[in-house]
Amino acid sequence: MKDRILQIRKDFPILQQHVNGNPLVYFDNAATTQKPLEVIDAISNYYTTQNANVHRGNHSLSQLATTYYENVREKVRVFVNAKSSTEIVFTRGTTEAINLLSKILAKGTIKKGDEILVTEMEHHSNIVPWQMVCEEIGAILKVLPINTKGELELNKLDELITNKTRVFSFAHVSNAMGTINPIKELVATTKSHGIISIIDGAQAASHIPVDVQDIGCDFYCFSGHKIYGPTGIGVIYGKEELLNQLPPYHGGGEMIDKVTFEKTTYNVLPFKFEAGTPNIADTIAFGAALDYVNELGIEKIAAYEHELLTYATGKLMQLEGMQIIGTTNNKTSVLSFVIAGIHPTDIGILLDKMGIAVRTGQHCAQPLMDKFKIPGTVRASFAFYNTFEEIDIFIDALQKSMRMLK
Ligand code: ALA
Repeated sequence: MKDRILQIRKDFPILQQHVNGNPLVYFDNAATTQKPLEVIDAISNYYTTQNANVHRGNHSLSQLATTYYENVREKVRVFVNAKSSTEIVFTRGTTEAINLLSKILAKGTIKKGDEILVTEMEHHSNIVPWQMVCEEIGAILKVLPINTKGELELNKLDELITNKTRVFSFAHVSNAMGTINPIKELVATTKSHGIISIIDGAQAASHIPVDVQDIGCDFYCFSGHKIYGPTGIGVIYGKEELLNQLPPYHGGGEMIDKVTFEKTTYNVLPFKFEAGTPNIADTIAFGAALDYVNELGIEKIAAYEHELLTYATGKLMQLEGMQIIGTTNNKTSVLSFVIAGIHPTDIGILLDKMGIAVRTGQHCAQPLMDKFKIPGTVRASFAFYNTFEEIDIFIDALQKSMRMLK
């Protein structure tokens, strides 16, 4: 990766920009990643030469758009190693994916008095939909706690799981800390208790290999925009048997087989869950993003990002008053931290003035911040197009900010 970094950075036009008079250092990749030219061009090409509705027309353009669109489903299948592309459902993103799953599971699978298990490190999008289900049907939300390093307390799992537990929904990687959870172990536990497993993979798919057959999970969700693709496109991988059993989500065109005023029958998978005209352009561009990532190789990306993380962690730890939130050994390239006596937002504002983009605040994980009794963190999150030089610039800027704020 290191030897190709200059070329790689040229593929991302936005990285050539200056922000507030300084070269942009983009360290907010956990919020969203930047897009290579291949992705940007794919959107433009679609509207210039391919635009038509999919699955609906016999004319050539519609068939072309359908082919490109369905090719991406196959690319996603290969990317996560699903058995069949019928197990790949397109959504607007991970948030919609989890909302969809929670709503369809609430129609018969989860009943009053049943329990839903999440973890203390979840993003709000893997907490709130389940709370809504609990309110709606009288189910109970339970929470697997974490330790001070930001790791799950696996020894608490046995006491939390009961014969009422129906669903365990958990992050593959924490957005706020970067902790990589032992998902195979978690899935094995759910299986042994007959519990449905749902994995929020939003922060994992761009950093580490995902093999859903190897993991053995029932559902795995992720977003296109966090893996160098456009916003507004995401994925649910679901086991075919389960997707077939579950009722549809939205009603409308595409998800039907036969409609009469008396009764409607539904389409086959995955279309049963894809009512309405989908986000065709962004899906096709998402395919271009997956091609880009595959060309670099996710293993190589993981190794390079790990080097960046190790380098930046070493530098950060030398700073006075530094507390890193999330100190497990098994992490993706996310560095969340607080500095004694300084509010994270103030640091974020000063870094921005020096051209450095980080996220500050609660990172849509308020319960996690409560656990650490902090108002929020400064979060620097790295991607394969970031460099060691950028980390040096960031550390210098951080020291300057600390001097100004103390
Ligand atoms: N979930 C995204 C983040 O962690 C937005 O920043």
